[in-house]
Amino acid sequence: MSGSPLHVGVLTGGGDCPGLNAVIRAVTKSLINEAGAKVTGIERGFLGMIEGRARQLDSQAVSGILNEGGTILGTHNWANPFAWAGAGGADMSGQAMQFIRDQGINALVAIGGDGTMSIANRFTPLGLPVVGVPKTIDNDLMHTERTFGFDSAVAIVAEALSRLETTARSHGRVMIVETMGRYAGWIALEGGLAGAADIILLPEQPYDLQTVIEVCREREKKQGYTLICIAEGARPIDGELTVHARLESSPDPIRLGGVGNVLREQLQPHLESEVRSTQLGHVQRGGTPTPFDRVLATRFGCHAARMVERGEFGRMVVLRGENTESVALTEVANRTRNVPADHPLVEVARSLGVSLGQPR
Ligand code: F6P
Repeated sequence: MSGSPLHVGVLTGGGDCPGLNAVIRAVTKSLINEAGAKVTGIERGFLGMIEGRARQLDSQAVSGILNEGGTILGTHNWANPFAWAGAGGADMSGQAMQFIRDQGINALVAIGGDGTMSIANRFTPLGLPVVGVPKTIDNDLMHTERTFGFDSAVAIVAEALSRLETTARSHGRVMIVETMGRYAGWIALEGGLAGAADIILLPEQPYDLQTVIEVCREREKKQGYTLICIAEGARPIDGELTVHARLESSPDPIRLGGVGNVLREQLQPHLESEVRSTQLGHVQRGGTPTPFDRVLATRFGCHAARMVERGEFGRMVVLRGENTESVALTEVANRTRNVPADHPLVEVARSLGVSLGQPR
């Protein structure tokens, strides 16, 4: 890269989440302002590298997008150039690299989750140095205390629980809210606490159905209603995950979903009150990012731009305490971070008397 003018490709991979545009904006503005770099947006994640779809990003192109949800570049959650399902699993990395060379791109900022990081890292030996920026509403990436998008998802869960509380109380019902989060319970835990759920069920702690029934019965007698927040990856002790679909072409084929309804069916025969379930689904991923996520995403974007300028490649931006730092991509690729049994928020839930579905 030495000698050639700095020309940076930016792409968003995996599922969208609030704050992606804030990162694109920050990376672009910082690279232009601080390094006079050229910035190119690669469209629909790694699919754009396979199909040769890109457009130039300048200050004008990223103006007015800070609070916009989704990603102006589009994304794709199963386009892997090293095994492209769209071409029967063929290795298209050579074609992708040819496109990168034709464009004159000499560095890549990849904004995504663990899957995106592991693919991005494979381009480094092919001559495309990479800086990663972590995104996911699930907050389950290793080595970063927060991913942007998480706070926005939690806000939606809290809002939904607060709204369902008034209707649960009015009708004397048990209301179940199912959150996303894959195999990690961060959204359900933080959203459940923020929305004053009475029972929070996490993937990390399989629930005892009898205990959940007992808590609901006790509340039927005393408060008259119950709010349950359940993560999509939760399951009963000795029970199975609830799988909504299998997408065989995806690197992570399992799509979770529907456990709220399963719990409703398990609970209803044992309770007098009516049990209803709401699956929040992609509502948690859409729309404008919270101010916290706008700032975090902006900080991540600026840090990523500085890493490119310094030649600090093969690494991903992380948040540690108050500071943005970086870790090697090999440390984060294909690894996830779960809620530890002794996490401070788990302790908070216990001291409030919130049931985590564990036998008493
Ligand atoms: O990883 C983000 C996430 O929203 C998970 O919480 C959820 O399980 C999954 O993506 C849903 O994926 P898709 O949008 O492909 O259905």
